[in-house]
Amino acid sequence: MREAGRFNAQLMDFIRPHVRAGVKTEELDRLLHEYTLDHGHTPACLGYPGEKYPFPKSCCISVNEVICHGIPDSYELQPGDIVNLDVTTIVDGWHGDQSETFMLGDREEMSGEAIDLVQCAFDCLYLAIDAITPGCPISIVGQTIVHHVSQNYDFGVVDKYVGHGIGTKFHQRPNVPHVPTRQSQQERLHPGMCFTIEPMVNGGTAKTNCDRRDGWTVRTQDLRLSAQFEHTVLMTEEGPEILTLTDNGPQQGHKF
Ligand code: MF3
Ligand code: CO
Ligand code: CO
Repeated sequence: MREAGRFNAQLMDFIRPHVRAGVKTEELDRLLHEYTLDHGHTPACLGYPGEKYPFPKSCCISVNEVICHGIPDSYELQPGDIVNLDVTTIVDGWHGDQSETFMLGDREEMSGEAIDLVQCAFDCLYLAIDAITPGCPISIVGQTIVHHVSQNYDFGVVDKYVGHGIGTKFHQRPNVPHVPTRQSQQERLHPGMCFTIEPMVNGGTAKTNCDRRDGWTVRTQDLRLSAQFEHTVLMTEEGPEILTLTDNGPQQGHKF
């Protein structure tokens, strides 16, 4: 899992400079796909089974009101957009999964809400990682996130899509919800477990809509913006270890 996380983070470092206004999302997908194959690894998203269709591309790219599972296409990124890149690789059978939300263009071109949302989602991820301890209830994740958001913002935390156990399977037990739930109060994060934390924060309602035609694209119901960050985490006897930490890109404490 450490190797899978390390490669996945290297992939994110590779793609980051390409995420710019004027680039088509399918071009980013192609670059990610080729880099992964060139290094002898496999993109986990490509062909991943869904309720209706297998996922058709090698990563998820979710722009503005798209919360998650956006399908790369001919859309050209615009200044002022916020765009989440979610990349997952299989390395020797093990999965690394992470995402970042990028603001395109200069800070002056971004709406205040866009900057606040991206900051909020980023802080939620690191506050949750800082809060968990060996053997703690999974609900610490959701409690920490909901507390931070409700104390500081008027945003909605998505409850329909959750973090997840990860290993030889992309998605496995346990669920790691970003709001506290009965089940997450009863399950624990034991040393040796790998899982993701991937809070999605919406500018308005937390409610979601999945596109009926493509079976994948998840949008905010009110079409306001949504931001997300994700890491794959290993719980050790000493505490959480982030497996998908990047050398570049925003580090803990970053101010957007
Ligand atoms: N990477 C997403 C996650 O964080 C899952 C994407 S599934 C796909 O769990 F099929 F859309 F790629
Ligand atoms: Co992901
Ligand atoms: Co994930």
